[in-house]
Amino acid sequence: MNAQEIRSAYIKFFEGRGHSAIPRALLVPQNDPTTLFTGSGMQPLISYLLGEEHPSGQRLVDSQTCLRAQDIEEVGDNRHTTFFEMLGNWSLGSYFKSEQLPWFFEFLTDVVGLDPVKLYVTCFIGDQSYDIAKDVDSANIWEELFRSKGIEAGQVEIGSEENGYRVGMQEGRIFYYDASKNWWCRAGKINLMPEGEPGGPDSEVFYRFYERDHDENEKLKYGDFCHPNCDCGQFLEIGNSVFMEYLKTDTGFSKLPKQNVDFGGGLERIAAAALNEQDVFKVSILWPIVEKLEDLSGKNYASHTESMRVIADHLRAATVLAVDGIVPSNKEQGYVMRRLMRRAIRFAFELGVEQNLCAELVPIITSLYQDSFPEINDSKDRVIDILIKEEKVFRQTLRKGLGVFNSITASGKNITGQDIFKLYDTYGFPLELSKEEAYKNGVEIDANSDAEFDRLMEEQRDRSRTATKGEFKGGLGGQTMQHKKYHTATHLMYQALRQTLGDHVIQHGSNINEERLRFDFSHPEKMTSEQIKHVEDIVNEQIDKDLKVTWEEHPTNEAINDLHALGAFGDRYGAVVKVYRMQAENEEQPFSFEICGGPHVDHTSQLSEDGKRFKIIKEESSSAGIRRIKAVLQ
Ligand code: SER
Repeated sequence: MNAQEIRSAYIKFFEGRGHSAIPRALLVPQNDPTTLFTGSGMQPLISYLLGEEHPSGQRLVDSQTCLRAQDIEEVGDNRHTTFFEMLGNWSLGSYFKSEQLPWFFEFLTDVVGLDPVKLYVTCFIGDQSYDIAKDVDSANIWEELFRSKGIEAGQVEIGSEENGYRVGMQEGRIFYYDASKNWWCRAGKINLMPEGEPGGPDSEVFYRFYERDHDENEKLKYGDFCHPNCDCGQFLEIGNSVFMEYLKTDTGFSKLPKQNVDFGGGLERIAAAALNEQDVFKVSILWPIVEKLEDLSGKNYASHTESMRVIADHLRAATVLAVDGIVPSNKEQGYVMRRLMRRAIRFAFELGVEQNLCAELVPIITSLYQDSFPEINDSKDRVIDILIKEEKVFRQTLRKGLGVFNSITASGKNITGQDIFKLYDTYGFPLELSKEEAYKNGVEIDANSDAEFDRLMEEQRDRSRTATKGEFKGGLGGQTMQHKKYHTATHLMYQALRQTLGDHVIQHGSNINEERLRFDFSHPEKMTSEQIKHVEDIVNEQIDKDLKVTWEEHPTNEAINDLHALGAFGDRYGAVVKVYRMQAENEEQPFSFEICGGPHVDHTSQLSEDGKRFKIIKEESSSAGIRRIKAVLQ
């Protein structure tokens, strides 16, 4: 089955089991200020999982178009895409584990035709600190299901991912992991869930492409032993059944009024498993884009794999963003769209495709969706117009970069890593192009330019991670001093809010411009004027204490669980995070310790330059349970 066939077979399968098919939600969430994009199938259904009645009933099925902008830098390997479809079925208090797991297993093995021998599953090991039991029920159901296919499936307790690398598979097929792997909630981590947020244990299915012990190279890279959650590529997660029956309270968890199922499975990944092909770009809703690129560039995928993957993913994402009403800009969703397009065009430039990229590729992309999402194909002409316009503007920028390059070198000076970075960052001028131009014109390149460029790139990545969280006003290039000040003030205020109101305060959004900071956070009621004054006083006191602002890197687990670094709601972090520390010279504990990409000022006293004070100018409701503050330095 190809991807299109899998999508329609899935909908039909669940319709046959009493589900109503519902349309996809737009990539831009409606009435949900907490996030820029729809990143999972359950996001648009959150209020129904909390207990509201859905007009289509208690059993729902769909294929949801999703975008995860935080994965933009990961695209290029064989499994990451920013845009993907998530097949989803939901029980809103109708059925639970003993229907969900057999149905999904039947769908994978009998409908899609996957070999059950290649399937491995994981279940929740339980969490004593929250008094949540081990999910033995799911594990036993899995055992029976495998037995029905003549497979004896052993149960193995792994616990943490790190332990998985130490203990390995132990010939098991059903693996228990802790909450970092088998608990699902929008906050990403069980201990970051704000009060009122639903979540639950989950059970994931993995497809195993090949079986091999970790060889020496892999051991160095991934650890001694492989296990389903290992990143070496042997395993690919293809579906996740969340048993959403818990609600976070101020002290722990209570049960939701109903037991829900929230299932999500990546369509591209299931299609890759159906092909027994580790490369998701080979599936039928990506491969035609790659073929067209081979055609346009006269180059082949095997030798230009990364570029072609980036272009295929990014233009597909930009196309659906345009269908859903976004245009490239320097703000919010439009900024992400612009970044996606510029990265695609830059990579195309390196492939030698210097014009008409969008005009050639968009019709291929829209045609891939004509059966299931007719609105995509119907918007074709409008989308092409939008994308071509942006391509033209960006190509002009590239040409401008060429002019700047020539003026830098006109004086006869060497090209430095900083020059190359500036050309890249401000004019989108590709690194290779700078080098090529230098070579053509006989200009010397500094010996350490690569290292310098890499360092600046890394800093830039940290900045854009921050940007995808919500700070877009700085546009594509600069982060001014004023931004840094407000960014630092935001950290101080976040901590001050928690000290004043309590630990239920979790950041839901942040937006900074030259004039003010804006901050959304969970808190059930309007703040009193005393509380507002208290927060202002704490922040000003910390500014006066001249805290030193530094950052350090930690493994994510350690940062969150051992060091209790603050994070933002909904963020999914990589393996290592950058944490900003704001601490007085003579104090042992930092005042603020928060996961963040930066940038910040070096000393908090910089915030009071010219006698400025921190002041909250507005405190209002943003959405249910979320307050919004605007504050200034004046
Ligand atoms: N919410 C779960 C996920 O996104 C399953 O739909 O993985």
